[in-house]
Amino acid sequence: MSLTATDAWKALATAANGIASQPLKDLLADEARAAQLIHTVGGCYFDFTKQWVDIPTLERLHELAAATEVSTRAAAMLRGDPINQSEGRAVLHSALRGGAAANVDGEVRAVQEKMTDLANAIRGGTWRGYTGKPITDIVHIGIGGSHLGPELVVRALADYADPRLTVHFAANIDAHDLRSALKHLNPATTLFIVVSKSFTTLETQVNATSARSWFVERTGNVDAIAQHFIGVTTNEEAASAFGLDVDNLLPMWDWVGGRYSLWSAVGLPILCAVGPAHHQAFLDGAKLMDTHFAEMPVESNVPMLSALFATWNYNFLGAGSLAVLPYDERLALLPDYLQQLEMESNGKSVNIDNQSVDYHTMPILWGGTGTKGQHAYHQLLHQGTRAYAADFVVVARDEAGLGEHHTWLLANALAQSQAMAIGYDAPAEQQYRNVPGNHPSTTIVFDELSPANLGTLLAAYEHKVFCQGAIWGINSFDQWGVELGKQLAKPIFAELTGQPGGEAQDAATARLIKQLKT
Ligand code: F6P
Repeated sequence: MSLTATDAWKALATAANGIASQPLKDLLADEARAAQLIHTVGGCYFDFTKQWVDIPTLERLHELAAATEVSTRAAAMLRGDPINQSEGRAVLHSALRGGAAANVDGEVRAVQEKMTDLANAIRGGTWRGYTGKPITDIVHIGIGGSHLGPELVVRALADYADPRLTVHFAANIDAHDLRSALKHLNPATTLFIVVSKSFTTLETQVNATSARSWFVERTGNVDAIAQHFIGVTTNEEAASAFGLDVDNLLPMWDWVGGRYSLWSAVGLPILCAVGPAHHQAFLDGAKLMDTHFAEMPVESNVPMLSALFATWNYNFLGAGSLAVLPYDERLALLPDYLQQLEMESNGKSVNIDNQSVDYHTMPILWGGTGTKGQHAYHQLLHQGTRAYAADFVVVARDEAGLGEHHTWLLANALAQSQAMAIGYDAPAEQQYRNVPGNHPSTTIVFDELSPANLGTLLAAYEHKVFCQGAIWGINSFDQWGVELGKQLAKPIFAELTGQPGGEAQDAATARLIKQLKT
């Protein structure tokens, strides 16, 4: 049966028709409602009270979760069923933090031990470059899931990092990215980590090749590549053909999707930066969320509730985007990371039965840090014409310790979600000041920005994405749409360079090629 034909979906459509008579501001004082909408996991407090739902609607959402068998599907994922149907793969990223019942513990542990040995050698100075000096800089080369998570976490946990080691990232095929990563680096003390699950991704191939040339041109020592390049991949053959020493390769697995892979050897720069104890705390924080997700009923299950509210917002209240608003500069890359996690996973228009869907799936996710965004796009959030939803992330503890800054930061975060929910009724003659309100948001409060809390949060989003895909009946774990662009770029590259392999292009593309070649 189509999702939109289920009783649960129809009941929500009816509820949406009536919600306007219950402004969000009128729901906020209800303590019984609040008790159902606030949940704590570890050091993370999830406050859903500013979602525009009343108790009956909440119950309809619970019914939707039951009708779409979210819990049953979650159990199938966690035990390692091949739920990624289009690629015939299991989805076991939670096994990387010990949070799934699958039989892969042995291999996961072996790789974690190898990662830890490597990180300890690099951090302890026993891993030496070709001149005998210890490593001072790591350059991580990878893109998408092989980049976004590690950079987010390394930046977010900078306060936990070893100051003797700096981690740089190069992802874009734009040479400015690699050039800025390599600027001022000494090849004798630089270690490259080339991360590519497939080891065929264009950007990573081109960046890794240029990095190797940069290294060899400066050292004149091809034999030293082994001491200065490490690889993380499922494709050992391609990596060794590239020139990487097989002993310096760390495996990935087909049962971990790229955008869910930061818990694997893809996270080696995190381990190098913060060390084994903090890295383990990060994994343990994620495992805490895995356990919560596996064991809690829908009524208090944070990822399930997050996905249900998202469905309500996108499919019934017309929200056309999700704004991710971390009020913490250390989390500046959270929107970038979540863009891949949520949009590459759930930006689909065909369901798992290969049928076109007749409802919207993932809208645009975007965002940036507060309070900078308040002086850029919040005007639109408060007085624009479109519906949206927002996630606020704040850290309770003042970890910067610089006078009033932190309290003002928190005050601004709360003021923004308050304005979104409650709005402002301007007098008739001053309608330009009117702020309608009724914009739903979730506020996530960390007691501190610790490795454990960050792990808990990222795992919560991962499981939310899973639940959202289960509700929509789509496969959250493939990304066939990305492939088309990759294929199309090849003949255009040939046309631009005059190499064989070019193809007649459409008129608009042909004109641009001509312009770029003049
Ligand atoms: O963006 C498409 C994609 O396949 C992602 O899913 C993946 O994270 C990224 O490219 C990088 O792929 P790889 O790790 O194989 O280089």
